[in-house]
Amino acid sequence: CLKRGERMSVKNEIISLLEKNRDTPISGQVIADSLNVTRAAVWKAIKVLKEEGYNIDGTPNKGYILLGNNDILSSQGIACYLDEDIDIYTYKCLDSTNTQMKKLAVDGGKDHSVIIAEQQSAGRGRFGRSFYSPAKKGIYMSVLLKSCKNIHDATIITIQSAVAINRAIKRLYNLKTDIKWVNDLYYQGKKICGILTEVISDFESEMIEAIIIGIGINVSTSEFPSELQNRATSLGLNNANRNQFIAEILRQLFSIIDEDFELVLAEYKRLSCVLDKEIEFNVKGQKYKGIVKDINDFGNLVVESDGKEMILNSGEISII
Ligand code: BTN
Repeated sequence: CLKRGERMSVKNEIISLLEKNRDTPISGQVIADSLNVTRAAVWKAIKVLKEEGYNIDGTPNKGYILLGNNDILSSQGIACYLDEDIDIYTYKCLDSTNTQMKKLAVDGGKDHSVIIAEQQSAGRGRFGRSFYSPAKKGIYMSVLLKSCKNIHDATIITIQSAVAINRAIKRLYNLKTDIKWVNDLYYQGKKICGILTEVISDFESEMIEAIIIGIGINVSTSEFPSELQNRATSLGLNNANRNQFIAEILRQLFSIIDEDFELVLAEYKRLSCVLDKEIEFNVKGQKYKGIVKDINDFGNLVVESDGKEMILNSGEISII
């Protein structure tokens, strides 16, 4: 992660250039001139990148190009799709990006910082569940929010995040995903994304200081543990450029948090797959059935059960 004004390594600058020009080869001379280094330095850096696994094609007449099947997560690869200058940290493997972000949040991490892992060994879901996070198949990321207008309301932030992810998927891949209240995205009837929103409060004052939005997306996961097989699927995007996908999610997220929540909620409701459906849920250990009537202005679920109105502000529901 770079400080403002600090120069990236030649290797990273080349990734950035190649990523920005995915469809057009760039000659070694053009790269050398634009980075103000020698052609030999470019050649050496390209060699190292290839050794690191980057699939770079080099033809003497045309130059260098990142091949379409190149899908290595990197902060430069993501940053080149963003206008905003943010701190992006990428890791090969973490226990959980949310857990890592909690440490960064209390250690001076900046607003809009992002932590991404290629793989999580202990990815966390809601209610103490785990989130299956195999390498190369998904996006596992955590975003830090320290100052936004709804920082005190994790439900609102979760709703905004779900709509932002939905918009990113629609814009880049033109796929239609639904939202299952409150934090899951579904594709073709199965879950493809979960959001874990966690709050960081000051120990003494209990004031909320930051929010961590943990996002897990099954991009191309084709095999799931047996307990998930009936419930989870992926977007089936085997050739997705995950750097671009992550950047689009961030762009949508940073823009939606400043939008009028009333409009975002209306969009959330249009995308909801639970409105008017019969559901099952638990309250204080007791099982209920009911029909979802609405999602109110606070993002709570309004359910009619046995002729009575019930308001759910969190928890798990199942569509019957
Ligand atoms: C859920 O489905 O209950 C929420 C799943 C959230 C998973 C993401 S993956 C990135 C981030 N790090 C975690 O440990 N969890 C979230």
